Amino acid sequence: MPVPLPPDSRSLYRHGMMPEISHDESARINALASLNASVAATLSSGVRLAYEHEAAPKLTADDLNLSNPKAKTGAIVRKAIQPSPIYQSWASLRRAIQEMNRQTARHITIRQLDALRQRATALNHSESQADNTLQLNPSLEVPHYLAKADNHLQPGGYHTEIVPGDMTAAATYDIATFVTAMGMFGAKGDSGGRGMAKWLAQHYPDFKPKRILDIGSAHGNNTLPLAAAFPDAEVVALDAGAPMLRYGHARARSMGFSNVRFVQGAAEDIDESLGTFDWIQTTMVFHETSGSALPKILERIYAALNAGGLTLNLEQPNFTPETPIFDRFLRNWDAWYNNEPFWVQLHGMDFQAELQAAGFSPEQCIEGGVNPDLDPGHYPAWAGKISRHDHEHAKPKPQKKGYNGEAWYLFGARK
Ligand SMILES: C[S@@+](CC[C@H](N)C(=O)[O-])C[C@H]1O[C@@H](n2cnc3c(N)ncnc32)[C@H](O)[C@@H]1O
Repeated sequence: MPVPLPPDSRSLYRHGMMPEISHDESARINALASLNASVAATLSSGVRLAYEHEAAPKLTADDLNLSNPKAKTGAIVRKAIQPSPIYQSWASLRRAIQEMNRQTARHITIRQLDALRQRATALNHSESQADNTLQLNPSLEVPHYLAKADNHLQPGGYHTEIVPGDMTAAATYDIATFVTAMGMFGAKGDSGGRGMAKWLAQHYPDFKPKRILDIGSAHGNNTLPLAAAFPDAEVVALDAGAPMLRYGHARARSMGFSNVRFVQGAAEDIDESLGTFDWIQTTMVFHETSGSALPKILERIYAALNAGGLTLNLEQPNFTPETPIFDRFLRNWDAWYNNEPFWVQLHGMDFQAELQAAGFSPEQCIEGGVNPDLDPGHYPAWAGKISRHDHEHAKPKPQKKGYNGEAWYLFGARK
């Protein structure tokens, strides 16, 4: 089976905060990204066969009944498939790739941390308080679900500071997502935000937000496309992690953006002084929160939206009664082995019901899908389309009205 390869990691955009990546380091990143693609393209189908031929015959109808919590989450498959050598190879490779990926990116960052801090200090400097678009809050209590788990094996998560003025977490995340997404996030890691802006233009061509809030912006990779789509809008990038914001603010300035304010805060406690917004976006944020935080954040979003405003959220799709048990196991794998503790509960939730509980009317709720918007030629022409999740998305029929297995599941609402 031909293995589609990701683009060369040297295609990563060299913004003003991007760490220097040596030849050897680029080679290592390329090897990890290609290995990740190869595991996704070849071994994954072997895991499915191992389930069908080795594990499933050992399971009873009761085991597979969705009223059984272990069937609902796919945990029953995990237990049954563990003895399979092909599953073991697939799982240990995925885990090892992630560990090596985070370690490689972190090493690149730490060896030049002093230089990066100097660059950030210069770029983040503002002549006056009025020009200051980086607002950190050292007394912020980082939500426990971020503080207690190193999500997707990123050491120290998004908030840990190993030296004063640290930005290791952000630079590590900026580089490491290339391997995780096998280049699908594009040269600037912004294909989600670009795709989102395109979707908005297609579905709400008259919508012209004046104030935009991106919650869980990280280093602003997917915030800047929103700011670029609406250059007259005032954009606020909110995140709990100071390292993400320091780096993101400097990065945005180095790229010529002046309409984005980077603010440290927790989404469940959006500071009223930030005002209200026409568009509130989250991109890949909710899956790292918790069962009690998610409804609270949606309530805060509802309160902070202007009448007629939109909230759009890119996330993992919920399971439906039609989601096969094997797919449930695959989709929850990251909860068990990639430190994504909330995934199991998140997949079992119903976002449409959560939106309505937060105050949105059912007629105004939105469900759809967004595809990444990549620069033409980002993938080599011969490589074809790849995604670690392709096998999950290849559904004969749409799972739910509005979502057809696009790369990102979208849920949202108009107020
Ligand atoms: C997986 S990253 C996604 C980043 C970015 N939106 C993107 O598209 O790549 C999740 C980000 O959300 C932030 N985050 C998670 N929960 C948060 C909360 N309750 N308040 C503020 N930020 C939060 C984390 O600090 C992290 O930077």
